[in-house]
Parts: sequence; C-alpha cells; structure tokens
Amino acid sequence: EKVILAYSGGLDTTVLIPWLKENYDYDVVCVCIDVGQGNELDGLEERAKYCGASKLYIEHVVDEFCDEYIAPCVKANATYENKYLLGTAMARPLIAKILVDIAKKEGAVAICHGATGKGNDQVRFELGIKALAPDMKIIAPWRTWNIQSREEELEYCAKHNIDLPFKKNDSYSRDRNIWHISHEGLELEDPAQAPNYDHMLVLGVTPEKAPDEETEISISFEKGFPVALNGEKMKFSEILTKLNELGGKNGIGITDIVENRMVGMKSRGVYETPGGTILLEAHKQLEELILDKETLKYKKNIDNEYADVVYSAKWFSPLREALQAFVESTQEYVTGECKMKLYKGNIIKQGTTSPYSLYNESIASFTTGDLYDHHDATGFINLYGLSTKVRAMKKAEVEKN
Ligand code: ARG
Ligand code: SIN
Repeated sequence: EKVILAYSGGLDTTVLIPWLKENYDYDVVCVCIDVGQGNELDGLEERAKYCGASKLYIEHVVDEFCDEYIAPCVKANATYENKYLLGTAMARPLIAKILVDIAKKEGAVAICHGATGKGNDQVRFELGIKALAPDMKIIAPWRTWNIQSREEELEYCAKHNIDLPFKKNDSYSRDRNIWHISHEGLELEDPAQAPNYDHMLVLGVTPEKAPDEETEISISFEKGFPVALNGEKMKFSEILTKLNELGGKNGIGITDIVENRMVGMKSRGVYETPGGTILLEAHKQLEELILDKETLKYKKNIDNEYADVVYSAKWFSPLREALQAFVESTQEYVTGECKMKLYKGNIIKQGTTSPYSLYNESIASFTTGDLYDHHDATGFINLYGLSTKVRAMKKAEVEKN
C-alpha cells in the first residue's frame, strides 16, 4: 500500500519518510509541489530515496496557481482582517488538489502532511482533501507523535541511519510562494517587540532602505485579470515575478499583523507581498473608475466575506463558488490601465484609464455640461431631504408642547 507525502525537502517533512515506514509500513511516494517557493530542487529525488521513499514527483504548478487561485483572489481584492493578502491560504487548496490527483493515479490509500496541530494549514490541507477525495485517509504526524523539537527530529533521523546535512535552523517559521512569504515565530511571538526586519526580509527591503528615486510602472487588466506590465503583454506569473522584484526593491507590501487563526488563537506574523500589494491597488483603482456606486459598495462586503472563506479552508465550497460567480460578473468591464509610482513603501497614483470608465468629465466638471442641469438639484434636494425636514418639524412641534 502507498501513502502520498507532501514533501518539501526540509527536515520537517524528510523525517516523515522513516516515520511513515516505521509506523505504517507504507510505500512512501513523495510529492514536491512548486508554487514558486524558489527552493533548491536539485538533489531532492536522491534525498527522498535515500531516506526510504520509493518515488518523488516534482510538480511545477506556478501558472496554475497564478491563473486559477491567485487571479480569482485578485478579482475579489481578497484581504483577511484588513491586512493579510492570503498567500498561504490560497496555495493550500491547490496543493491538496495535486496531492489527491497523484494519490488517485498511484492508487494510494492515504495522504500525509507536515502541518502542525496549532495552525490553519492542517485545516486547509485536510478540507481540500476531504472535498476532492472524501474517502482518503489523512495522516498528520505532528498531531500524534511525540517528537517535539528540531533536535528530536535530528535524533529520529540518526536512529534511522539518515545522515543529511540539515542546517541549524534558528530562523522564522516561513511559507513562501510566488505571491508572498510569511514569517512567524522568534521575536514576533511577542506583539510588544519590533520585527527584526534586517534578519527577516526575503523579498525586499524596508522603505528606509529603498532607493531615493521612484519607479514608474503601468499595469493592464482585462476583465479583472492582469495581462500586461508597462504595456508589454505577459503571462500573469511573469507580471507577478517582475512586480515582486520592483515592489520588493521599493519597500512595498510589508505588513505586520496579529491575526485570528481558525483554531482560536491570535497569532502575530509579518507578510511580504510586494507584487500582490501593487496588483490589488491597481485593481481597486480600476474598479473605482468602472463599477457603479451600488455594485462597488456591495462588492466590498462580498470581497470581505470571500477573504474569510478562503482563509478558513473553504476554497472548495459552494459558498466560495457562489461568491466567485458574483465577483466574476462584476469583472466584465474591469479592463484598462493603471499607472503608478513606487516610492519608499508607497504606491502613488499616476492616472487610470479604461474604455468602460463611468467617469464623465462633462458631468463632473465645475464649468460645463449638457447632461447635468443645476436646476434639477433643487427638486432632488427637496425630495431627498423631505424625511429630514418632516422629522425636524415634528421635533419642533413636540418640544413646543
Ligand atoms: N498565518 C498564515 C495563514 O494562516 C500563514 C501560515 C504560514 N504557514 C506556515 N506553514 N508557516 O495563512
Ligand atoms: C503550522 O502550524 O503548520 C503553520 C502555521 C499555520 O498553519 O497557521
């Protein structure tokens, strides 16, 4: 019998290989899923096999991640608790899907992941698996075994004759993909402490360290989907990669948040989402110009709900799909170009254009216009203010008696 193991090559998932063999006597099929985390993939197969795995899959899914998971979130401006752009939350369902696909192909009976018992990721992996393969057995060793620390992991490996040069890891708990990198742990565990950015940042620099000169860019969208950077058509993944570089260099998209995890605790984390922060800003500027007042207002509520649903492990759910359908229908005319300057952590608007812009200069202008007759405002205010006036009259009457 086979088990599929979500494998990164790091100590935390490598130790799972001998553990699975010892405790279940399964054939271990490792799956490393490349969502743009940029880790070293050379030598991964040898490593997995050396530790006792029978096979290693390496799945490159960056474009699928961008087009099928990130883009829907961009259309929904998805932001959890006003700050977190959901980089980890949107990758987990895709990872679950790939694990399930390979499990089916291999005829595996179980899927094993290395998320801890304290976090959101375990919930996201497992709800993803349940949604796509309801009968699949799920193994989450971090909830059941008694290994507690990195030292004990190393000891366990040594006992199983696994001798690998794992670096000492005294760094943050991190999760990286093409959209973001998250940092948790160390000094961040105390919300009273300032983040040690020099030690922490991976994708960019703080605004203080950014160049004194601004970077001008323009981003084009078609129906809410990013299609070009600086007028040049590119794949979404290429746009995002370039925006990450430019945003990171200019100190954009660093957020420090205390967030509410699904499992009940508050947790402090720092996220770097340079490209994503720029994209959402550009997308919101286009929506500002293109969506009518009522849709824009209603969509904010939907966007907010959408972010909660994605954070809370319900990607594969009727509610996420229904919210998505609403969002998609609002994106029909979200086509256009947004120019901006990046400067020391700031995104400064340089003009937005769209063939579907509802902004009408001759109406809005202070000087001219055939469509708008100032006299009409008199009647409008009389009716619009009628209830206000009636109430004030009543109040005066009551107070007189
Ligand atoms: N708190 C964030 C979330 O729940 C980030 C989790 C990062 N995961 C990790 N394994 N380090 O989405
Ligand atoms: C983990 O505990 O595996 C990482 C943190 C999280 O999932 O929220």
